[in-house]
Amino acid sequence: MSGELSPIDKAKFVAAKRAADYVEDGMRVGLGTGSTAAWLVRCLGEQVREGGLRFKGVPTSTRTADLAREVGIEVISLDEAKWLDITIDGADEFDGDLNLIKGGGGALLQEKIVATASDQMVVIADIGKEVEHLGAFPLPIEVIPFGWQTTQALVEETLISMDVLGRQSSLRMNGERPFITDEGNYILDLHLQRIGNPRQLALVINQMPGVVENGLFIDICDVVVVGYGDGRVEIRDINEGTVEQDRLDFLETDNLFTDLAE
Ligand code: A5P
Repeated sequence: MSGELSPIDKAKFVAAKRAADYVEDGMRVGLGTGSTAAWLVRCLGEQVREGGLRFKGVPTSTRTADLAREVGIEVISLDEAKWLDITIDGADEFDGDLNLIKGGGGALLQEKIVATASDQMVVIADIGKEVEHLGAFPLPIEVIPFGWQTTQALVEETLISMDVLGRQSSLRMNGERPFITDEGNYILDLHLQRIGNPRQLALVINQMPGVVENGLFIDICDVVVVGYGDGRVEIRDINEGTVEQDRLDFLETDNLFTDLAE
């Protein structure tokens, strides 16, 4: 029931539920990864099963692919889709220009490929993800395992000349072992505290041998659907320059909440 959800989970849910309205029959849809994106996949699955919605989903991780199939969404690969109408995904941080840090769930590489291959990227996030400057959330970068410590040293050295406050980095772990991405790579989390020039940093990091991709999404996101714990949502469209307010009724979704709380 809705009463069992924390305000943050309610905020994530209403953002996801509202963003599900963007999906129309016949679309090819990129499906993000993370807890907010999981709410979206559940909402879309419900619309497929009970509302007759028909679309094809391109997941950004094996986790999302498994969930999408479980809830009844037709899953295809990006190569089968070739190009997408829309991608809807979560984020770890977003700023006023709708630039993002992503990759907290380790799926940044597929997420960036899929979002870039979409006419539109819609981010769903609780209001706690909004920041004035990116960088408080550690910036994930995906690196190949070969020589990763050398890559890490090179990254830290390069950060000296970048407009950032911190330069420490850490290898993401999964218990006693390194976290492994869907592509078999490692993740370095960069503890930068504040990123003064995200565009420049994204370009410089991606120049380094051993770096596969970074979690800065610059000029990729078109719309952020921001959720609040009381059911309000705010739709910010960077291209239109508009901000729309909406509110979702929790009572209508009790069954879905019960399902998700399990
Ligand atoms: C996955 O790799 C990430 O990019 C997620 O989209 C991001 O970490 C947001 O996750 P939550 O919705 O769980 O906060």
